[in-house]
Amino acid sequence: AKITFITSDGKATTVEGTSGTVMELAVQNKIKGIDGDCGGVCSCATCHVHVNPEQWGITGEPDELESDMLEFDDNVSEYSRLSCQLKVSDALDGLELTVAN
Ligand code: FES
Repeated sequence: AKITFITSDGKATTVEGTSGTVMELAVQNKIKGIDGDCGGVCSCATCHVHVNPEQWGITGEPDELESDMLEFDDNVSEYSRLSCQLKVSDALDGLELTVAN
């Protein structure tokens, strides 16, 4: 799937991946602001992204664990997700994510 990340400098970077999580894909491609400090176990929120509101149906809602974690982060919106909880698959093709940190 091709996924586009918009970083705090306003730059859009589109990367492609077939497996793993969106956080891992971002780290591999050195997307600024996605650190993945906890290794993807939903306990650091350094992989926080805002989903393009029009595409909210693609990712869906965070589960309870993820929502709890998001509450600790700044800059949370109703379209916040932790990208380590998003699995890269064809279903995510064309997804646009704004890096939150
Ligand atoms: Fe730590 Fe996603 S990488 S919460």
